[in-house]
Amino acid sequence: MRRTIDWDGEAVTIIDQTALPTQYRILSLRTVDELIDAIRRLAVRGAPALGAAGALGVVLAAREGGDLSALKERAQRVAQARPTAVNLSWGVARALDKLDGGADAVLAEALEILDEDERLNRAASAHAAEIVVGLCDRRPLRLLSHCNAGHLATVAWGSALGVVWHLHQRGLVESVLVDETRPLLQGARLTAWELAQAGVPYRVQPDSAAAAAMARGLVDCVLVGADRIAANGDVANKIGTYGLAIAAHHHGVPLVVVAPSSTVDTSLASGAEIAIEERAPEELRTFVGTVVTPPDAEVFNPAFDVTPAELITAVVTEHGRYLPDGTQG
Ligand code: MRU
Repeated sequence: MRRTIDWDGEAVTIIDQTALPTQYRILSLRTVDELIDAIRRLAVRGAPALGAAGALGVVLAAREGGDLSALKERAQRVAQARPTAVNLSWGVARALDKLDGGADAVLAEALEILDEDERLNRAASAHAAEIVVGLCDRRPLRLLSHCNAGHLATVAWGSALGVVWHLHQRGLVESVLVDETRPLLQGARLTAWELAQAGVPYRVQPDSAAAAAMARGLVDCVLVGADRIAANGDVANKIGTYGLAIAAHHHGVPLVVVAPSSTVDTSLASGAEIAIEERAPEELRTFVGTVVTPPDAEVFNPAFDVTPAELITAVVTEHGRYLPDGTQG
């Protein structure tokens, strides 16, 4: 599969994630404003992919001309397009750091981030696959996925879904229960599409079925990605992850978080400091274009929640297990 986000020499190219699974189309983003719009609409999404978007945003900002302060202002707007995934501002900062070397150095750094992404996600998910194999006795495994932490959420390969790819290659996956992931359906639309492409058996379920599936003994391990990991190991991820973690803990099902180390934000002591994005009420007032609430219904629509470290079996990066004191191994 082509990279989720890439650079074609003139523009940022992305697989349009608002169109899948019915349409597979590529968008070319030529300006900072087009990139910001794509990030906000979730045409490009998922923490590692947003890291690449941040770096490529600086490339676009540098090509738009003007003085240094104009460039930095554009880069800042990219970094702030969405608040929760730390990778976005991390990608911007890494590219900005090369400004002294000129536009070519900024581009080279952005391209390095793109190359690194697949390598690091493959490594993190390989470590996590070993951990899952050690945690779960049943063969083959029945896994549960929330949101989309696959190829589409990264430049390539995936984080939590990368674990499924590794285990599937070894014949160890019976099936994946895919949370549909209300309200934007990243699970039903994107994760199910990726699993179908890869020939991995799956079933989509409403988010609200996850606890019942665990109670019925249908889940050996829950696999999720992360948008920001605080120093103490608390994890911000797609809304619903916290509820999953409580259910998993109650039923003795391990929950494993997989992310590149660019998702770890050691500047934040705990998850309480993580900014949680609130999204538009329309995402809940309508469903596939039909109004489903009173038109002016008040809405609570946080895009993410924070799962405390004590409910997480393991946080895994390319360095191995991330331990709450900040060490890896
Ligand atoms: O709002 P989204 O679709 O960008 O949310 C994405 C998630 O919550 C993912 O689980 C997370 O970014 C990890 S992706 C490898």
